[in-house]
Amino acid sequence: MILNERIEHKGNAFPAKVIDFKKDVDTLYFHSENGVILQMTVLRDSMLRFRFTTDAKFEPDFSYAISKEAVKGYNKLEITEDIEKYIVTTSKLVCYISKEDLRTRIYDAVDETLISEDELGFHWEESYELGGNIVKMTKNSPTGESFYGLGDKPEHTNLKGKRFQNWATDSYAFGRHTDPIYKAIPFYTAIQNKKAYGVFFDNSFRSHFDFCSERRNVTSFWAEGGEMNYYFIYGPNMQDVVASYTNLTGAPELPPLWALGYHQCKWSYYPESNVKEVTQKFRDLKIPCDAIYLDIDYMEGFRCFTWSKDYFPDPKRMVKELSDDGFKTVVIIDPGIKIDMEYDVFREGLEKDYFCRRADGPYMKGKVWPGECYFPDFTKKEVRDWWAGLFQELIEDIGVKGVWNDMNEPAVMDVPGKSFPDDVRHDYDGNPCSHRKAHNIYGMQMAKATYKGLKKYNYPLRPFVITRSAYSGTQRYTSTWLGDNVASWEHLWIANVQAQRMAMSGFSFVGSDIGGFAQQPNGELYARWIQLGIFHPFCRTHSSGDHGDQEPWTFGQEITDVVRKFIEIRYQLLPYLYTTFYKYIEEGIPMLKSLVLFDQEDSQTHHRTDEFLAGEHILACPIGEPNAKGRRMYIPRGNWYNFWNHEMVEGGKEMWVDADIDSMPIFIKEGAIIPKYPIQQYVGEKKIDQLTLDVYFKHGKEESSVYEDANDGYDYTKGRFSLRQFTTTGKKTSLTIKQHKTGTFITEYETFKIHLIGLPFEVKTVRIDNEDINLEEVTIGHRVFEITKNFSQLEILG
Ligand code: GLC
Repeated sequence: MILNERIEHKGNAFPAKVIDFKKDVDTLYFHSENGVILQMTVLRDSMLRFRFTTDAKFEPDFSYAISKEAVKGYNKLEITEDIEKYIVTTSKLVCYISKEDLRTRIYDAVDETLISEDELGFHWEESYELGGNIVKMTKNSPTGESFYGLGDKPEHTNLKGKRFQNWATDSYAFGRHTDPIYKAIPFYTAIQNKKAYGVFFDNSFRSHFDFCSERRNVTSFWAEGGEMNYYFIYGPNMQDVVASYTNLTGAPELPPLWALGYHQCKWSYYPESNVKEVTQKFRDLKIPCDAIYLDIDYMEGFRCFTWSKDYFPDPKRMVKELSDDGFKTVVIIDPGIKIDMEYDVFREGLEKDYFCRRADGPYMKGKVWPGECYFPDFTKKEVRDWWAGLFQELIEDIGVKGVWNDMNEPAVMDVPGKSFPDDVRHDYDGNPCSHRKAHNIYGMQMAKATYKGLKKYNYPLRPFVITRSAYSGTQRYTSTWLGDNVASWEHLWIANVQAQRMAMSGFSFVGSDIGGFAQQPNGELYARWIQLGIFHPFCRTHSSGDHGDQEPWTFGQEITDVVRKFIEIRYQLLPYLYTTFYKYIEEGIPMLKSLVLFDQEDSQTHHRTDEFLAGEHILACPIGEPNAKGRRMYIPRGNWYNFWNHEMVEGGKEMWVDADIDSMPIFIKEGAIIPKYPIQQYVGEKKIDQLTLDVYFKHGKEESSVYEDANDGYDYTKGRFSLRQFTTTGKKTSLTIKQHKTGTFITEYETFKIHLIGLPFEVKTVRIDNEDINLEEVTIGHRVFEITKNFSQLEILG
């Protein structure tokens, strides 16, 4: 019985007075008169989970998003009460819970500022269309608050004033405001008064977020079913919020290093001779490339796990020849299994009852590339194990190195809603439900099953998977791309903000279809897009192929040279990118940082979209217009070196930066050490016999690191990695570099080539571990020295 009189409020029901509370280690249960229970868990001193039920008991606690590895357990909470409220205190947060109606207020425990406060708080409404509850939350939002995150929304980085929904949707040629698109990542970070907190609403039903769009000072989120179940994550640094969320939902393992190389894709390269022509051309033109993709036409009539006998008569031989030439083969696998009794995958799925069914019993039938298909229920472990097993031949025998999962929203053609009807049934790992609950996690579970297969059959090498659809936590299994974009300048902007947003949403291994999927770019747009793409963790050109070619050499000599130049920069930066990846998996630090995430104290950054940090030390900003000779951009606070001419600029202001077609604005943070490899045509082409360290002088201190390992395999998990942490300290006439190395991996090279940039004095002495070195012996150029890799302290003295 609902006793709260606010029930009259627009059909909404609210929690009533609290009658008691129970404490169970780090979890508190607040019972209200009308059967509402708030279960509040203190996961860490900066993370609180709020979970509400409206009918006196909770459903089993189950989530696909939360990582088993997540750091949990916290028992240092304190609870007290006064007449009006309960007060829960950790070392970072103080949370008030109103005895009147379970509304909450959260304060910073240190300086007592209010961080977040419920407006109506939790409430619910019976869904007139569907039964069950629509669960809702509203919070007050002070003027000046900004919002970021939410996955792949093709919108301004700052989401303030807008409304979104999460419902994974196949969105061919989506546009700047299309919503929803492929991914459902119900996590955002808010900043107010320069303090950041995050909200992760772990509910896989269709969910909605309003960031002060309908009402200026209220933000809300709600879902069309399931529980009000959200995590409040405090920073106050935005990076810490994202890192905590990443830890909660899980970071991936390291990818093989080749996965960070350049990849070439098209719908489709076939037959074999065409594939070979393309790969040969990369080698002939000396444009580095590590992977070639086969789209649906490699299959026999689009049947997954088959090969077209006409186009690819001997895939094993072809894959081997490509591999001998340094190319990994990646193939597409879609979820739709063609209805065909002659097709063993279909027959087996049918015999074992692995396909999704409608509510009244028949199979879920839908049209995709192969025609009418059935679809595996990836939400059942047995089905995922079966699916993983299907990769044995592809991976173990044929030698394919990566798998590309597409159409897994799931996409169905020619039906309203372009997906399964709501009544389709899913196992949801022992929590049977309809498609309304399973839709947003379907693609994730497919990618997980694929990952399991690759991990098993590629062992001891690392798996590489790429997915189009995703829910929170999907980053544990796979990389991702941003779907079917368009070859336009606007889409170059979209790719940039989407990649930043994904990184802020815990999913860093991301890239766009470089050049655009639909339509054909001109050379200038393609070159500008490559310039952006080399800074994205996943770097692949892909196109629909029906509007002309899109290879690096398609647009004439000048563009080919520009494209080569930038792909070469990426290959030189591989150790930097790999180190950035390592920081992401170890510490949850996003690989791309929007300026707001880099420096939230500077409110100028809260509305920037174009500039971003790739890793800790590189600032990049793509050119987003035709015929540009440069652009204006905001340089964040601090001193930065222009990557091209080493001129130093002082940040905290907007400025013009020259960038003709063969250039783009790139800056290096002062004090940084940027590690570089020699240019290779593919990862592993050359023995790395020296590591170049570009050292950018700074008056003061800065930390840098270089992570290396065997570039593949799992030895790194047993300590066989090499992590060098450098501390540089610059003074008027000295520069000291301290090196601290951990891990047992021994890199092949013996020396560093130290390249000193911006040094304000002439070098008179070089001292390694307190011993002077003969300058002539180590000098190999102007301010370039060759020095043993095994030093603890290097001093450059003037
Ligand atoms: C979808 C994918 C695209 C792929 C095409 C054919 O449109 O998003 O990347 O090339 O299907 O498989």
